[in-house]
Amino acid sequence: MKFSISFVEKAESNGNTAIVLASVGHVPAGLQAIGMGEALYGKASATAGFKAKLCSTLDLLAPAESDAARIVLIGLGERDALNSNAWLRAGGKASSLAGKAKKLVVYPDGSAAPSELAEFALGMILGGYSFDRFKTTSRDEDETEGEIAVEIVAGDVAAANAAFAERQAVGEGVVLARELVNLPANILGPREFADKAEALAAFGAKVEILDRAQMAELGMGALLGVAQGSVRPPYLAVIHWNGGGNDERPIAFVGKGVVFDTGGISIKPAASMEDMKGDMGGAAAVIGLMHTLAARKAKVNVVGILGLVENMPDGNAQRPGDIVTSMSGQTIEVINTDAEGRLVLADALWYCKERFKPRFMIDLATLTGAVMVALGSHRAGLFSNDDGLSKELADAGERTQENLWRLPLGDEYDKMVDSRFADMRNTGGSRYAGSITAAQFLRRFVGDTPWAHLDIAGTAMGSPKNEINRGWASGFGVRLLDELVRAHYEARD
Ligand code: BES
Ligand code: ZN
Ligand code: ZN
Repeated sequence: MKFSISFVEKAESNGNTAIVLASVGHVPAGLQAIGMGEALYGKASATAGFKAKLCSTLDLLAPAESDAARIVLIGLGERDALNSNAWLRAGGKASSLAGKAKKLVVYPDGSAAPSELAEFALGMILGGYSFDRFKTTSRDEDETEGEIAVEIVAGDVAAANAAFAERQAVGEGVVLARELVNLPANILGPREFADKAEALAAFGAKVEILDRAQMAELGMGALLGVAQGSVRPPYLAVIHWNGGGNDERPIAFVGKGVVFDTGGISIKPAASMEDMKGDMGGAAAVIGLMHTLAARKAKVNVVGILGLVENMPDGNAQRPGDIVTSMSGQTIEVINTDAEGRLVLADALWYCKERFKPRFMIDLATLTGAVMVALGSHRAGLFSNDDGLSKELADAGERTQENLWRLPLGDEYDKMVDSRFADMRNTGGSRYAGSITAAQFLRRFVGDTPWAHLDIAGTAMGSPKNEINRGWASGFGVRLLDELVRAHYEARD
C-alpha cells in the first residue's frame, strides 16, 4: 500500500476516512474539525472501552453530516510518554487502517511538533510496505490498489514538510533494504545487487564496482574462495557519499551480501534453507543507509562497501580444509564452508581500512545462527574494539528501537580461531560462543581502526509483525545508523 503524504493547514474534504489521534485523558482536538461532539466521543469511547492507549483503535461510523464514511481514533498513549517511537508506531497503525480508502485525513491531537508529524508519516510509509509484487491473483482484497492520498493536518505546514523530507529519505532507505532482503536469489544475484548500488548515482553518490579480476589483483582470496562455487561471479560495490568537507576522513559501513547461502560443500539442511535468500541483509542495510544519506544530502563523507557473492556447492566450490590467503596476507583454513560471511567480510574490511583509513568501520552481517540463540529477534549482537563507538551505537539503538546488545571480545575467544595449519580457521571449533568467535575472526582484519560488528541474523529477516512492519524483512540497521550519523557525525549548519 503506497501513500502519497502531504501536510495541510485544513483539509478540504475528509475522503473516505478521517483518522483522529487521541491521548489518554484528553478529548481529541481533531474531533471538532470533523463535527463530532465531546458527548458522542465520551459515549462511544466508554461503550467500546477505548482509553487511547498507544496504538489502540476505535472505528466509528461517521455522523450523517460528516463527509467521511469512517472515523478511526488511534491512541497515542499518555502525553508524557509520547516519544518519537510512539509517533512512529502510531503512524504504522494508521497505515493498517486505510482499507479501501482513496484518501485519508489525519487529525493530530493538539500541537504536535513538525518532527513528530514527520515521524508519524514515516511510520505510515514503513507500515504500508508489503512485498507483493509476485502475487498475481490474491492481492489483499480489502486494500486499495495504487496510491492513497494522505493529508495530515499541521500547524506549521512548511516546517512539517521540511521535517518530512528528511524522514522520507529514511523511509525509502528502509523500504529499499526490505525489498532486497525479500527478493529471491533467482531475481537478485550479485550482478543485480551491484546494479542497485550503481543506481545510487542518481542521488549524487559515486559508485565503483570491482569484478572478480580486480579482486584477484588485490589478493582477495577469502572472498573469492566463497564465490568460486557459483556460476554467478562476485562483485564488490564501493559507494561514496561525499556530503562533508574535502579533507574530512570518511566513516565506513561494510555489509555481508551473500545473495544465497546454501552452506556450500558443508551444505545446510533443507528445512528453512529458503530463508538464506536474506543472507545479504547486511549489504541491504548498507545500501539502504547510503540511499538515505544521499537522498537527504547528509553533511558527512561516507563509504559503503558491499561484498556480493553467492555460496553454492559445485565442482569448483571450495572444500573444508582448503587454505586461502586473504588480502591482508593472513592465511585462513576453511573448516566449514558455511561460515562464509566472515570470509567475505575479512577482505571487505581490510580493503576498507587500507584504502580509506576511515574514522570508524561498522560492519553488518547475518553472520551466525548463534546470535539468534542468544538474543532472538529483538536485538542484534554488538561487538566492538571501541567503547565510545559502542555506546553511541547502543544509544542510537534505544532511540530508534532497533536495539543492540553488546557481547564480549577477548583473548580467550581469539585463541579459539587459531588453526593448526594456517594463521586462523573460520570457525571456533565448537558451537560454544559461536557469535563471539565469528566477531573475533573479523577483528583480525580491522587493525587499530575503531570498529563495530553488528550480527543481525536474528533481526534482519524472519522478523515478527509489528505496527511498522508487516513481517519478514525488517530493513534493520537503516534507521539505527542514520540516527548514529545524524547525532554524532554530521556537520551542523
Ligand atoms: N548465514 C548464516 C547464518 C544465519 C543462520 C543467518 C540462520 C540467519 C539465519 C551463516 O553463514 C552461517 O551459516 N553460519 C554458521 C556458522 C558455523 C558454520 C560456524 C552458523 O551460524 O551455523
Ligand atoms: Zn553460511
Ligand atoms: Zn551466511
